[in-house]
Amino acid sequence: MQDILKLIQERHSVRMPFDPERPVSHQDLQQILEAGRWAPTAHNMQNFDIIVVDDAKILDEIGNIKSPISEVFIQENYQLLSFSEEELLQKKVGLLGTMFPLSWRTPGVKPVAEEGRSRPFPPCPTLLVVLYDPRKRAPASEGDFLGIISLGCMMENLWLMANSLGIDFQIISALSNGPVEKEVKRILAVPEHLKIAFCARLGYAAGTPPRTLRVRRDIEDFSHHNGFANKGIG
Ligand SMILES: Cc1cc2nc3c(=O)[nH]c(=O)nc-3n(C[C@H](O)[C@H](O)[C@H](O)COP(=O)(O)O)c2cc1C
Repeated sequence: MQDILKLIQERHSVRMPFDPERPVSHQDLQQILEAGRWAPTAHNMQNFDIIVVDDAKILDEIGNIKSPISEVFIQENYQLLSFSEEELLQKKVGLLGTMFPLSWRTPGVKPVAEEGRSRPFPPCPTLLVVLYDPRKRAPASEGDFLGIISLGCMMENLWLMANSLGIDFQIISALSNGPVEKEVKRILAVPEHLKIAFCARLGYAAGTPPRTLRVRRDIEDFSHHNGFANKGIG
């Protein structure tokens, strides 16, 4: 039991470049996909397809897609930033501002897209592109809310399995929206009707990852007992 909790607590994002010369083995990939395969999904609909991309040329092509940063991202991202470790420890949610380029985290300064991201993701030997069919939905689920939650369950299974194998992992949301998504779909010949749910970079950090402060709310902050008014479970 403790092993599962430890794995869950230690699962983390690695945002630095991965060694492109150190591939993820076929056997490890099989295990990661096996973990995804057994994810719970609403109505057991298994509403995903996964493209494993490990061809350096294709990775390069996807990695060179221009991915402009939107004003909305900058504004909403800003609301979740802290500007010191102390502030983050106190807030217990969000991220450290220093993860982002200066112009993306300074109010009143026009964000310079190129400052932070000349590529939509840092180098890696393997990219998972997870697809779903937005025309389908979990039965009677408004906006396919249940189907989308199911994709999240699958994401977590992939991530936990990867980390348990010592493989670094990062979700790349920049590839699943607007013109960037369109371009990824073109490169990978994804049928028109499918959407990219999320992409994940897999590999081994090229060097020692910097120490990053990871915070969470305490159980008492989000739990309630026998009614919303009673915070915590005693
Ligand atoms: C749906 C979803 C989208 C995410 N998108 C990104 C992303 O585009 N880039 C990134 O570096 N991390 C992304 N993350 C990772 C979160 O930022 C990260 O899980 C969170 O900050 C907690 O840090 P940890 O993973 O180290 O525990 C995403 C996570 C989820 C669940």
